[in-house]
Amino acid sequence: MAEKTLEALLKEDRHFPPPQDFRERAVVRDPKVYEQAAQDRLKFWESFAQQLHWFKKWERVLEWNPPLAQWFVGGRTNLSFNCLDRHLTGSRRNKTAILWEGEPGEERTLTYAQLHREVCRFANGLKELGVCRGDRVTLYMPMVPELAIAMLACARIGAPHSVIFGGFSAEALRDRINDSKSKVLVTADGGWRRGAVVPLKRNADEALEGSPSIEKAIVFQRIGTDASPIMKPGRDLWWHELVARQPDWCDPEPLDSEEMLYLLYTSGTTGKPKGIIHTTGGYMVGCFATTQWVFDLKEEDLFWCTADIGWVTGHSYVVYGPLLNGATTLMYEGAPDFPAKDRFWTIVKKYGVNVFYTAPTAIRAFMKWGEEWPKKHNLSSLRLLGSVGEPINPEAWIWYRQTIGGGRCPIVDTWWQTETGHILISPLPGITDLKPGSATRPFPGIEADVVDDKGNSADAGYLVIRSPWPGMLRGIYGDPERYKTQYWARFPGVYFTGDGCKRDADGYFWLLGRVDDVLKVSGHRLSTMEIESALVDHQSVAESAVIGKPHEIKENAIVAFVTLKGNVKATPELMDELKAHVVKKIGSIARPDEILFTAELPKTRSGKIMRRLLRDIAEGKALGDTTTLADTSVVQALKEKYEESE
Ligand code: WTA
Repeated sequence: MAEKTLEALLKEDRHFPPPQDFRERAVVRDPKVYEQAAQDRLKFWESFAQQLHWFKKWERVLEWNPPLAQWFVGGRTNLSFNCLDRHLTGSRRNKTAILWEGEPGEERTLTYAQLHREVCRFANGLKELGVCRGDRVTLYMPMVPELAIAMLACARIGAPHSVIFGGFSAEALRDRINDSKSKVLVTADGGWRRGAVVPLKRNADEALEGSPSIEKAIVFQRIGTDASPIMKPGRDLWWHELVARQPDWCDPEPLDSEEMLYLLYTSGTTGKPKGIIHTTGGYMVGCFATTQWVFDLKEEDLFWCTADIGWVTGHSYVVYGPLLNGATTLMYEGAPDFPAKDRFWTIVKKYGVNVFYTAPTAIRAFMKWGEEWPKKHNLSSLRLLGSVGEPINPEAWIWYRQTIGGGRCPIVDTWWQTETGHILISPLPGITDLKPGSATRPFPGIEADVVDDKGNSADAGYLVIRSPWPGMLRGIYGDPERYKTQYWARFPGVYFTGDGCKRDADGYFWLLGRVDDVLKVSGHRLSTMEIESALVDHQSVAESAVIGKPHEIKENAIVAFVTLKGNVKATPELMDELKAHVVKKIGSIARPDEILFTAELPKTRSGKIMRRLLRDIAEGKALGDTTTLADTSVVQALKEKYEESE
């Protein structure tokens, strides 16, 4: 975050208490919930678990052998049963579970009964292909109901899913399939994005050339004749043909609380993405509780979380959290500016969305596009707004509140991570006084703290979590050591989030962005090392250093400093080629915004690249401390070169 905004943020003292009518009708009204949960955290979480269905009740709520946690130990349950079957006996049977709009404008609704049937049939289809409990299934799909159906089908039979965001390239898909050793891939002939077809099946074909674990690929027909993929005999089969022959009942597996529910790959501080492991019981309870309390869900609400299911926000708050609560969840396939910049507001008005959850990067884009777009539509159905993914600057917060929320909707700024599984810091909208730019307080039952370098509680420093919570990651797939060193070693026995944070006199948390080499770019999580590896993979590149440069809309722009091999010439064509190379290795979300060729990179005497100085250069600031540099002339020359190139 730029220093100027940070300063403004810390001076922010506006307060917005919950409007009286909101408070009176809120799911949670009594501020004592915080104290009560703090007195007995286990009882607090248990009270949510008791509202769900268990084939066998847990024996103990928590078993904590740091850093290994087990929740609802000995319990047996099933996420798909809790999301679906549990709602079929009462009045929700014919309630809309998923309301979907395709980018070209098609509409579909699936009631709980219909969704249940589709999930059962697909689960039977997976079984026909030999998928057993414990087998991983990779899903590389557009935002269509079939993605949710496939996830729930996997959950039903106990086959962990690994959803790969549709914007990832063939190579990124291949690496993730190979890491998880998935047996089956579920994909589609394509998806719509800004009027064009995203060639998912073509990417999948390329990926599968190097993915020996995959036995079968199931292809959902989303596009039809515009796509016409080539189906490889013996490997590929159509979704519709597979499900057509399946019965519409499939027994839910009574899974152990700690059986793996899914893997989700995310970027860390090394070049290799890590498969975050989430298990069944605790994740279910955490998603159920936070969706209900943070989003103040009422039976009649239409809930729209705009995240792609390829990210954790989509897992927890498009699919699992809303369905566990028997809510109606809206899914939209495409871009917010297609065919025009009011697509989101058209959708809000058309269906009467009540709770709307999006990312600051989107809000800043809406601001830039101008208030005439939302102003064209009556948005009075909205009653609560949410934000997630990066710090929200007070200016965007106020705009969101006024222009989208009509000054009447509370905003829940929710902090969490792929690793945490569900929201950990957020207002409770019927209780909390809001301050623009602050995620306010830890959710009841969550022991978050801010610590200094030594791990002592402080007003400013790093955000940590002091005790386990139900949805926490259980590990990194195939790399138990990395789990320990990444999250639990910096401050022994305490979970290190990687985020900077400040706590004000009222105990409010102000998140200040990442303190490591993880970048948030338009809400997508990337690692600088991953982009560097992609660049170095190109035959002309000797070395590279990637940094994030504060960006008005995207939070970070990607800036790459590159040194070329031997006598390779630095040309504009090569620059384009390198950008395309990163897209090929990772996907268009990682395309560098700027590349600067340089003869050398600033390094310490021990050979470490000093990224801090590169950041100073990119931000046009005076250079910080250069005394540890091996050669100070390098950085001065680079600074001049960068300024010239701008
Ligand atoms: C950032 C997304 C400030 C943070 C759910 C975290 C936030 C990273 C907020 C995780 C917020 C998420 N305020 N920063 N409300 N929410 N972050 O894994 O840096 O994609 O560590 O999970 O996003 O990103 P991830």
